[in-house]
Amino acid sequence: MDQATGLRRMVKGKSDKIYRLRRDNRSQSFSSQTKPRVIAITSGKGGVGKTNAVGNVAIACQRMGKKVLIFDADLGLANIDIIFGLNPKHTIAEVIKGEKGLSQIILTGPEGVAVMPASSGVQELVHLTEGQKINLLNEFDTLNNNFDILLIDTGAGISSNVIYFNLAAQERIVIVTPEPTSITDAYALMKVMFREHGTKSFLLLVNMVEDEKEARSVYQNLSKVVARFMGGISIDYAGFIPWDSCLQESVTRREPVVCCYPESSSSKSFKELAHYLVKQTDRRPIDGNIKFFWKRLMAGMPGQGNEGRD
Ligand SMILES: Nc1ncnc2c1ncn2[C@@H]1O[C@H](COP(=O)(O)OP(=O)(O)O)[C@@H](O)[C@H]1O
Ligand SMILES: [Mg+2]
Repeated sequence: MDQATGLRRMVKGKSDKIYRLRRDNRSQSFSSQTKPRVIAITSGKGGVGKTNAVGNVAIACQRMGKKVLIFDADLGLANIDIIFGLNPKHTIAEVIKGEKGLSQIILTGPEGVAVMPASSGVQELVHLTEGQKINLLNEFDTLNNNFDILLIDTGAGISSNVIYFNLAAQERIVIVTPEPTSITDAYALMKVMFREHGTKSFLLLVNMVEDEKEARSVYQNLSKVVARFMGGISIDYAGFIPWDSCLQESVTRREPVVCCYPESSSSKSFKELAHYLVKQTDRRPIDGNIKFFWKRLMAGMPGQGNEGRD
């Protein structure tokens, strides 16, 4: 029994909210109708292109008929709302306090992509009281069948917040650039996740390269070092995004590059990445994974046995 389930049992029948939670659980058992997939986009070093990847891949997936929710879990400043030209008035911090429902804070970005502005509430998410966890689980339950893909923009580094979201997700796309510090920091992140939390699988996306050859060489070099020092980890190559001045221009315009420069080289790569992810989604069994994500997220911090499922 996981912590969230234990928590629910403990307070069984104590409030209307909890009755609703249990009723919803019965009607949306784990074999829900949708095929939600939870992917964390992460990196060792900041500024490698996570937020742009999340935003553009989300739109490309949405164009393929998938419903995407972006969970902005980065405490940094240049977040998805900037790239999408949104001005969030509320965040998850207010949901935690019980002042707002999740549906009141979720924004609609370009082409219908949903955005949950969580960044300023991320620290609170890590330190919830039991009552707050129950309220939040109840809120999350209302979303479970609405989305096919949940993309989490995790922020960079090996802080507990970043690890927390990476563990709760089913899959992790680590973004690197050819810059040596980006590669060593990605290695450090994977090392912490493997050694301290037993995470064994990662996808690698190589950004800001000249061409695919450069991306493959970054992937191979990193894979070799990982195989030598951390046997048991598997890193799959998810693709590459070329260095593209159109992408930089799009950030200045506060419009995703796949919208304002759809024929640019980076837009084409984001579309390819979306195809790769959607193809995998369609092959996956129906198992209500978003539910597992919320539960793992609520279940606690890393080190409590909530290793990301592979
Ligand atoms: N493929 C790319 N080509 C050119 N510049 C890029 C590319 N990807 C990212 N950048 C630049 O890097 C900056 C940081 O990207 P961002 O997505 O905010 O990174 P992160 O979320 O990892 O901090 C962008 O504003 C853009 O200027
Ligand atoms: Mg970012």
